Amino acid sequence: MNLQGKTALITGGGGGIGGGLAQAFAEKGMRLVLADIDMAHAREQAAQFGDDAIAVALDVTSLESWAAAKAVARERFGQVDVLCNNAGVSQPRAPLDQVPPDVFARVMAINVTGVYNGLVTFAGDMRERRSGHIVNTSSMNGLIPFGTFAAYSGSKFAVTAMSEALRDELAPFGVGVSILFPGLTRSRMSLGDADAGFIPREVIEAGMMEPVWLGRAVVRAIEENNLYIVSHPEHRAHVEQRLRHVLAAFGEPAQPGYRGHTRGGPVAT
Ligand SMILES: NC(=O)c1ccc[n+]([C@@H]2O[C@H](COP(=O)([O-])OP(=O)(O)OC[C@H]3O[C@@H](n4cnc5c(N)ncnc54)[C@H](O)[C@@H]3O)[C@@H](O)[C@H]2O)c1
Repeated sequence: MNLQGKTALITGGGGGIGGGLAQAFAEKGMRLVLADIDMAHAREQAAQFGDDAIAVALDVTSLESWAAAKAVARERFGQVDVLCNNAGVSQPRAPLDQVPPDVFARVMAINVTGVYNGLVTFAGDMRERRSGHIVNTSSMNGLIPFGTFAAYSGSKFAVTAMSEALRDELAPFGVGVSILFPGLTRSRMSLGDADAGFIPREVIEAGMMEPVWLGRAVVRAIEENNLYIVSHPEHRAHVEQRLRHVLAAFGEPAQPGYRGHTRGGPVAT
């Protein structure tokens, strides 16, 4: 997709990675709808881009809120060509059974249902127009989970899986889907986790990536219609290790003599 003059709606647009997406899209001459539950931060981001950006109030957990944000975007810029489901929240580190129910529910509501709500609001229009692109922000933890971060990792695995399935569903209509898998990136979320002592000192000392570089990687992925966007390749060995373990479990069928069959082809890439 050629991005010049197109409109992007970015959820979590007032945040760190949302701001990086906005900056990279602005470099391509796009118009921006920065949607966030925190209007002060969304307005602050939007102010950098003059008439080409607006801040819109959005709670991604509410379909009514999505409908209202869509109406504002349409009124100002017409159709939304690129949807970035990027809003997300972290969790205090704790064994899964010790994560309070309200914390677990909030992580799922924002990180998973929030993405679903965005799709419900915009995918149909894109399918009808036979054009558009959806970028869902997962996480490196949407490929490699670790203990004490299970709720967040579970939510991000859900984003990964939904996005891969959505890619299959929308490809016949000329609509692209990409998944962003950030590692540590400068934002209020990561700085908050660092302040709380949730991120090991040596990881922080190695440095955080600046969000605009993730934005530029997303721009390239949309232009080339790539599914996976890996900004932090230092995690490759961990991903390989996990996949090796999964593949190592594929041995003989549990039932002797069972043949089975594969349905369809591999995941679209
Ligand atoms: N920063 C990192 O190191 C990192 C790493 C991997 C993945 N991520 C993911 O990147 C995405 C962006 O996070 P960030 O790091 O920029 O953090 P951030 O806290 O700076 O930004 C997140 C934004 O989401 C908004 N938000 C929270 N709840 C919302 C809701 N219900 N409705 C609408 N907006 C809401 C917040 O107000 C905030 O502006 C998240 O999905 C996060 O999980 C971040």
